[in-house]
Amino acid sequence: MNQQKLAAVILAAGQGTRMKSQKPKVLHPVAGQPMVAYPVGLSRILGCSPAVAVVGHGAEQVQQALSNESLQFVLQQEQLGTGHALLCAEESLKGFNGTLLLLCGDVPLLKQQTLERLLACHAAQQATVTVLTAEMENPFGYGRIVRQGEEVLRIVEEKDASAKEKTIREINTGIYAFEAPFVFEALRGVGRDNAQGEYYLTDVIAAARAAGRKVCALVTDEPAETMGVNDRLQLAEAGAVMRHRINSELMHSGVTLVDPQTTYIEPQVEIASDTLIHPGVHLRGATCIGHNCEIEPGAVITDSILGESVHVKAGSVLSEARVGDSSAIGPMAHLRPGTVLAGKNKLGNFVETKKALIGEGSQASHLTYIGDAELGTGVNIGCGTITCNYDGVSKHRTVIEDDVFVGSDTQFVAPVRVGRNSLIGAGSTITKDVPPDSLALSRVEQRVIEGWSLKHRRAKKK
Ligand code: UD1
Ligand code: MG
Repeated sequence: MNQQKLAAVILAAGQGTRMKSQKPKVLHPVAGQPMVAYPVGLSRILGCSPAVAVVGHGAEQVQQALSNESLQFVLQQEQLGTGHALLCAEESLKGFNGTLLLLCGDVPLLKQQTLERLLACHAAQQATVTVLTAEMENPFGYGRIVRQGEEVLRIVEEKDASAKEKTIREINTGIYAFEAPFVFEALRGVGRDNAQGEYYLTDVIAAARAAGRKVCALVTDEPAETMGVNDRLQLAEAGAVMRHRINSELMHSGVTLVDPQTTYIEPQVEIASDTLIHPGVHLRGATCIGHNCEIEPGAVITDSILGESVHVKAGSVLSEARVGDSSAIGPMAHLRPGTVLAGKNKLGNFVETKKALIGEGSQASHLTYIGDAELGTGVNIGCGTITCNYDGVSKHRTVIEDDVFVGSDTQFVAPVRVGRNSLIGAGSTITKDVPPDSLALSRVEQRVIEGWSLKHRRAKKK
């Protein structure tokens, strides 16, 4: 790695007209993350200090979305072009005399290695400006690199290019390394006499040459990485590339994806080897999955931690939950925030949990709600059990100690505690604490009226 001082400016003020959206373009998600989070992440990984984001369109929203990052924000009131945008960051970089990396908020696929190569080239050549370029099959819309022999003369935008210049296939990716004080000096000399009436950052190239400075261009061998997202088609394309990248890495590390094209895994998710993921699974946020798990189709798992050998069956939804080793969830179970399963648990179909601590080996196999509850070990919850945790004003807790057996169709009206090793008879409404080793029942005595049905039917016929 180079030892030079490094700062970054991330341009994120543009409106993104072609997205046809109320939302600022750079906040549209790629693999679940706003696209601007990717260049910002790179500036963090590369240790850029300061890192400055230029915001404008939807500034508050963009700032909010990036509030966890150690970024400085500068406002570009009016979007007068990329050159003007960088000038807005000048104040934040006062006194900085190292290398300035310029990144775009709408280029989410760029890789760290590519930037490292750009910086290494910039340092080795002792250049004032190094621009990252790419050879494109279809260069339409991009700025073109005008060379004379090997030398880069200038960059010309699509709208300003002559017919001959439009045939150039080497394009400007919009990513650069600059010598910091110089670029601001040069930008002050840049006008807006062009087809778009904008201050073009690209004009710095010609300005540097005119000032006798060294201008270099590094051609990337990965043009797909430098794709700028301008509309929703490109957004989907970028999403597919990112998905392929994330999924390939997981498969290389020993995770089986039955159909990687239809498996949606966000970048921070961690999965240990020998886990098997079926199609249509969504793994989001800071989810972490242990060895040897199986995740069936349609499961959606967000910010959750799964141990080893966990089986999540089809259609289950987990959010901010922890699932201990060797547990089975679903099909169609819903584990909501604050669910913690110790291990060897079974939560079957249509079981919903929330703020529930559930001890080892405890299970609820069917049609149950467990909320604001604590269950010991070896508890069996019968079908149709409900913790009535809410009295319309406040939430109350249900505590069920070790080895309790709860018969089907039981309601626990919280707050209530059931002592260890007790048995709750099916169909009970438990409103009072139950001591250990007891049987609790609240059923209405059954009445039988013999012959009633026959009489009733006869009466109807008349
Ligand atoms: C720019 C380059 C072009 C290059 C292309 C690569 C210029 C003049 N042109 O064109 O050579 O091939 O990127 O994708 O630089 N932005 C601001 N404030 C503004 C204008 C833009 O912050 O006033 C931001 C946008 O949010 C975006 C980035 O700068 O993140 C690029 O702007 P965009 O309008 O997309 O530039 P292009 O026309 O694509
Ligand atoms: Mg544009």
